[in-house]
Amino acid sequence: MSMRSHTCGQVTESLIGQEITLSGWVNRRRDHGGVIFIDLRDHQGFVQVVCDPDRPEMFVLAEQVRNEFCIQVKGLVRARPAGTENNDLVSGKIEVLCHSLVILNASITPPFQLEDENLSETTRLTHRVLDLRRPQMQKNLRLRYNVAMECRRYLDAAGFIDIETPMLTKSTPEGARDYLVPSRVHDGQFFALPQSPQLFKQLLMVAGFDRYYQITKCFRDEDLRADRQPEFTQIDCETAFLDELEIRELFENMIRHIFKITMNVELPNPFPTMPYSEGMARFGSDKPDLRVNFEFTELTDLMKDVDFKVFSGAANQEGGRVVGLCVPGGAEISRSEIDDYTQFVAIYGAKGLAWIKVNSVAEGRNGLQSPIVKNLHDAAIEGILKRTGAKDGDIIFFGADKEKVVNDAIGGLRLKIGHSAWGKEHGLSTEGWKPLWVVDFPMFEYDEDNARWVACHHPFTSPKDEHMQYLESSPGKCLAKAYDMVLNGSEIGGGSVRIHQEAVQSQVFRALKIGAEEAQAKFGFLLDALQYGAPPHGGIAFGLDRIVTMMTGAESIRDVIAFPKTQRAQCLLTQAPSPVDERQLKELHIRLRQAAPAA
Ligand code: AMO
Ligand code: AMP
Repeated sequence: MSMRSHTCGQVTESLIGQEITLSGWVNRRRDHGGVIFIDLRDHQGFVQVVCDPDRPEMFVLAEQVRNEFCIQVKGLVRARPAGTENNDLVSGKIEVLCHSLVILNASITPPFQLEDENLSETTRLTHRVLDLRRPQMQKNLRLRYNVAMECRRYLDAAGFIDIETPMLTKSTPEGARDYLVPSRVHDGQFFALPQSPQLFKQLLMVAGFDRYYQITKCFRDEDLRADRQPEFTQIDCETAFLDELEIRELFENMIRHIFKITMNVELPNPFPTMPYSEGMARFGSDKPDLRVNFEFTELTDLMKDVDFKVFSGAANQEGGRVVGLCVPGGAEISRSEIDDYTQFVAIYGAKGLAWIKVNSVAEGRNGLQSPIVKNLHDAAIEGILKRTGAKDGDIIFFGADKEKVVNDAIGGLRLKIGHSAWGKEHGLSTEGWKPLWVVDFPMFEYDEDNARWVACHHPFTSPKDEHMQYLESSPGKCLAKAYDMVLNGSEIGGGSVRIHQEAVQSQVFRALKIGAEEAQAKFGFLLDALQYGAPPHGGIAFGLDRIVTMMTGAESIRDVIAFPKTQRAQCLLTQAPSPVDERQLKELHIRLRQAAPAA
């Protein structure tokens, strides 16, 4: 006799009058003096089970069951009495009158109620198994599976094959710190866990596989945020013989496909495309959130000769910037809210937040309310009003500082105001999905701390053909064939056309001040492979965890990963990382600089 005839999610009115067998967990047991109700839960849903005392053998057991007991129930499906239906449940119109009950396994008292919405994350991660029993988590992980499955379907149909690449490998250059694995066999030597399969997928293209994909783990020891994990999953893809536009089209279609099938969401076709420089100019960001519908106004050139030193100082400084952010209807924002926003931008290093409330454009200077207008000459004020297109009732915020501080601070403010309850009420942001491609990234960015150029994407990204000439002479001018897919202000994927010629690759290493010897030691295998008729190739990798986080509306990437790490890169369930035996260390030729904390 099988353990169940149906799952809880299959029990509907169509089964009324039938005898069925269900197995699952006791979500809740309610004793109504004489009758016991059990809400039985499985991976698909809930069913209300009614236990009457007229079957004493069964009833004795029903009295014993508690939350999270694993039980089997046999009984008759019947309509719930009028007025007791629950329209939120598929099975809300029926209940099962229990004939026999088997306790398959008891449960000790769970440390929390599964329904509790206010559990701390520490509690949830420590007792992850119980946390995962909650319907929301079951839903998240099923959606994650569906997304991965649809990717596979799409890529398979497009001729991609899944090829595994090593986990024990050599340090790869995505720019984060590596997780290292000591070699027992080779004294003093280490593997690195891959930050991505980047080099291997390129080698597979040289090897002639044409189209590769893999849904695989990547490891990066970096500072963690709500959307970052030390080990995360990429949908990693590479193709030969396609140019940038063809690659983007192929993967844009993939994302549209998975949103349509898994969420029934129609994303726009085609996605808008925005050069990196435009993103920085209009939103101070290379991942603009297009749901927010107001943007920066460039004012640097207008502020060079004003008395207000904060503005003129930044405007005349090398790498300085002054922008305005005109918020429609914002004149009603109170002084105390402005103070809160001033504290908010300080997080990004902004030294203040100047503002002008526009009461009446027609009245010019006299129609403005602001601590700074007295220090701005008429032409500057006129220019600000004209360029921002400010209307009566608006507020203009200002950022003046080094470019990065202004972009981060005013970019952050734009999102904060746009997504605030007030911003939503005033139509400053919309719900829904706003994807775009950000393209034409710079090849390099200058690393002030180490006084050298570093690759913006990674050093295997191809420069634009017409910018090859700048590679070594003025790296700052050189744009790359790199692209990011951005959704609602989050970077969900990034890729590039690669360098397929050894000579160009060596030139890029030179621009990065990676010497020939170092290049040979680190990437010799790639440089060698490029010399055997490597085909033109390129690809992209998507962050699966990030995509699913956005789809579920979860607050944290940890809510779509079965067994995630905390912000402090620990697993609370298994208590990893943890100290190891002296014997193990010895085998690995490792002596600790300090004694490890006691296990
Ligand atoms: P990149 O480093 O941009 O590109 O990574 C691709 C995508 O992976 C996701 N992602 C992360 N998700 C969660 N936690 C993290 N710590 C994390 N880091 C990155 C992002 C990102 O867009 N080899 C290249 C791809 C290529 O060029 O084909 C690469 O790894 O969504
Ligand atoms: P202060 O002259 O310091 O009193 O500043 C006048 C106004 O300019 C205040 O509203 C400050 O918040 C604002 N302010 C100061 N520094 C900056 C800056 N770097 N960017 C934008 N606004 C600023």
